[in-house]
Amino acid sequence: MTGQREFFSSRIGFILAAAGSAIGLGAIWKFPYMTGQNGGGAFLMVYLAVVALIGLTMILAEMALGRATHTDAVGAFRRLGGGRWRFFGYFSLLAAFLILSFYCVVGGWTVGYLVKAVSGSLFDESAGDFKARFQSFVGHPLESLFYFIVFMGMTTGVILGGVTRGIERLSKVLMPLLFLLMLVMIVRALTLDGAMEGVRFYLTVDFSKITGRVLIDVLGFACFSLSLGFAGMLTYGSYMQPGESLIRSAVWVVILQTICCILAGFMVLPAVFAFGFLPSEGPGLTYITLPAVFSKMVAGQFFAVVFFSLFLMAALTSSISILEPIVTWLIDQFRMTRKAAGALVSVASTLLGISACWSFGAVDWTFGVADLPAWLRLTPFEFLDYITLNVMMPVNALAVCLLMGWVADDAFRQQLYPAGTAFGPNAALLPRLSWLYSDLTVRFVAPAVILVIMASSVVDALKKAL
Ligand code: ALA
Repeated sequence: MTGQREFFSSRIGFILAAAGSAIGLGAIWKFPYMTGQNGGGAFLMVYLAVVALIGLTMILAEMALGRATHTDAVGAFRRLGGGRWRFFGYFSLLAAFLILSFYCVVGGWTVGYLVKAVSGSLFDESAGDFKARFQSFVGHPLESLFYFIVFMGMTTGVILGGVTRGIERLSKVLMPLLFLLMLVMIVRALTLDGAMEGVRFYLTVDFSKITGRVLIDVLGFACFSLSLGFAGMLTYGSYMQPGESLIRSAVWVVILQTICCILAGFMVLPAVFAFGFLPSEGPGLTYITLPAVFSKMVAGQFFAVVFFSLFLMAALTSSISILEPIVTWLIDQFRMTRKAAGALVSVASTLLGISACWSFGAVDWTFGVADLPAWLRLTPFEFLDYITLNVMMPVNALAVCLLMGWVADDAFRQQLYPAGTAFGPNAALLPRLSWLYSDLTVRFVAPAVILVIMASSVVDALKKAL
């Protein structure tokens, strides 16, 4: 299988593809609303701490697992850990499948908002305020379904183009432009009346808000935003040439993704306060707030079109990294053609995703029963989001760290270190430090932090239940 595998043609191609996978809806859609729901500065601070402490380690371990084995998720776990470990390969792929089904729903909102920006209906005041317009869009069963399917189709189309042709080409463009445009929008958002209240909310840390629930939300989001725990980075790592240094690529991805999250917070949260929306609004926050910002910008429609185009590209370079692990597995294990595998997964994921798509008003998921317990009140969207981010991804990320740190033999563990490193007493300081860092964090720090956070969230949930 290794022999037939396509590889990224260069390290920069790999970094861009991996950064493209990381930067997407997570930073621009999810980060602002989760920050809004979880106490502003408290969420930001814990996120930065988690990423600094274990983000780099987790991403390094997952890329290394892929690069060491040059195969799909199930094969990678099996080859390094033996038969039992393949469970985590399947668990990662299941996570990818579930994520894809709701990720494409939000991707569809982005397509819909781009179309509305082009037609100008995004700014049509007769359709109610920005929140009402968002609700009527996502609550419309056919319109939201249509855009969901369009986004799923776009994702599948890129995947069918093949690894280097499809992914690399897309990832090489437009990201710097997205960052630039975000800066323009931040300037506009910060100069709105009342914006400073949002800045205070974003930057003031209230320690009493850091609960077990916030910690697990942050950990889940960190995995989601860095494309960990669903075999995304593992699969991209498997397309990387042997001999390239992973640590530099991993550092770049973490830095770019973190900057993007911070910028997205500055783009959305000040405007939330300036326009009098609620920071705890939930998944609609970015889509409700940004059109309001555009409506206050010179050439707002132009900026809206450019922004939603770039946002769509960012979402697409992520969604392909969610679909790709499953497709790679079907190709590697069942010798399916890329076309058949891509079509099969996207049709199945679309069928599941319909329930997520209709979670915003189109269907009453309580079926009229008034006194359901809280966990049964979750919509399919909320359920898929919760189970993947807060349970499956952290478990898989933990498994990758344990496998790479404790189970894999030395030959495989070399993948974690800079290529060609000599570890004698005469080795240069930097490679030695990087070796020490990788070893300590993959073996001890990351598993400990993940376990402590998971335990604290269980304690928190138990306290609430009792
Ligand atoms: N890492 C991807 C994102 O944040 C899944 O959108």
